[in-house]
Amino acid sequence: MGLLPAPASPDLMDRHDFDIPITFKHRVIFTRDAFAVANSGLADILCEGGGRRVLVFLEETVAAAWKALPEQIHTYFEKPDLDFRGVKIFAGGEASKADEFLIHEIWKEIDQSHIDRHSYVLAIGGGAFLDAVGYAVATAHRGVRLVRFPTTTLSQDDSGVGVKNAINAFGKKNWIGSFSVPFAVINDFKLLESQDPESSVSGLIEAVKVALVKDGEFFKWIEANVTALAQLVREPFEECIKRSALLHARHIALGGDPFETGSSRPLDFGHWAAHKMEALTNYQLSHAEAVAIGLALDTIYSQKIGFLSKENAERIIKVLQELGLKTYHPALDWTDAKGNRRVLAGLDEFREHLGGELTVLLLSDLGKGVDVHEFNISLLEQSIEQLREMWELADFSS
Ligand SMILES: NC(=O)c1ccc[n+]([C@@H]2O[C@H](COP(=O)([O-])OP(=O)(O)OC[C@H]3O[C@@H](n4cnc5c(N)ncnc54)[C@H](O)[C@@H]3O)[C@@H](O)[C@H]2O)c1
Ligand SMILES: [Zn+2]
Repeated sequence: MGLLPAPASPDLMDRHDFDIPITFKHRVIFTRDAFAVANSGLADILCEGGGRRVLVFLEETVAAAWKALPEQIHTYFEKPDLDFRGVKIFAGGEASKADEFLIHEIWKEIDQSHIDRHSYVLAIGGGAFLDAVGYAVATAHRGVRLVRFPTTTLSQDDSGVGVKNAINAFGKKNWIGSFSVPFAVINDFKLLESQDPESSVSGLIEAVKVALVKDGEFFKWIEANVTALAQLVREPFEECIKRSALLHARHIALGGDPFETGSSRPLDFGHWAAHKMEALTNYQLSHAEAVAIGLALDTIYSQKIGFLSKENAERIIKVLQELGLKTYHPALDWTDAKGNRRVLAGLDEFREHLGGELTVLLLSDLGKGVDVHEFNISLLEQSIEQLREMWELADFSS
């Protein structure tokens, strides 16, 4: 006898939903000279995880600035209980995120060194290098343990303590990537000393950003210490990085949406325009420079729509200026063949990247944000004009 014909009733969908609970430990460490033999912090962390094999990827610029570092790493790992597989040096910077070249190189090294899911990959470099290496490590064997060593101000006070990695594609920032909690993040303040002074200071923009959206007292502290920060006085500089990194980490761990499944992204304040301007300028504008402009734009716009007081908007712009950050770039005024400002396409791209409806955080106070879902384009254009006028005035007076 053949099978009876199946009834075509939707009631027969046999559905079972499972909640899959999973927690991660996010270890964020601040230290100086992590590879000094006397500093056992890193070795302790690796022992905590129980794995033994270690492979290190080091950004070329950092290797050039710290010539003894590869040798120091070798010496550090001369321990009987660790199986050290060497230091591999690759170029970093935004170019390392531009295509898949570095990803394939990292996969090859991981394979050849027999790194398994219980082994460790250490990545030492700036935010772009860590983003690219992090993506390769997150996808090799579906995820190997990653220990990040951010080496720029921006990567120590923000991206390094995050749980994302990415490379660029289709002319868009961070189009390919994944969410993946690193095994540990080690912020070694010593490594920052080889940055040029401009990058050292400009990376503090993410500290200003997180202060503005999360912690008004921290913003006031930055304001009170702005001269010392601009001069890179060690104590406030390192405190600023630490407070910023911890605010970012706390938001990720306790904010309720670590893998950004919703549409609200407070840590991306000022970033819709920033990401678009980085792409428009073919990455001639660094992430930090672009975020300073994007943050200034959304601050002025927050004032124009009546959310933020004029006094507070002025205080924010003054802090940016005193940190030596520019609040305008001509890319804000570049238009397409139809005469539309090209930067405005950043709003659509931002929405698409997030999924769901457009959600952009604006400021209602120092340390307090509010999500909006649409923009008044005319007021946004007026905000750009105001930034341009301020820039022209400053330019003529200097
Ligand atoms: N994953 C995230 O959550 C996240 C968050 C924010 C930003 N980012 C990404 O981070 C990147 C920006 O990072 P960045 O500001 O560190 O820039 P970067 O990595 O491009 O580094 C800037 C320059 O500094 C050099 N450098 C790095 N460390 C150095 C050191 N110690 N001494 C001297 N030179 C050094 C690099 O070679 C590069 O030329 C962007 O691609 C951005 O999209 C990612
Ligand atoms: Zn950023």
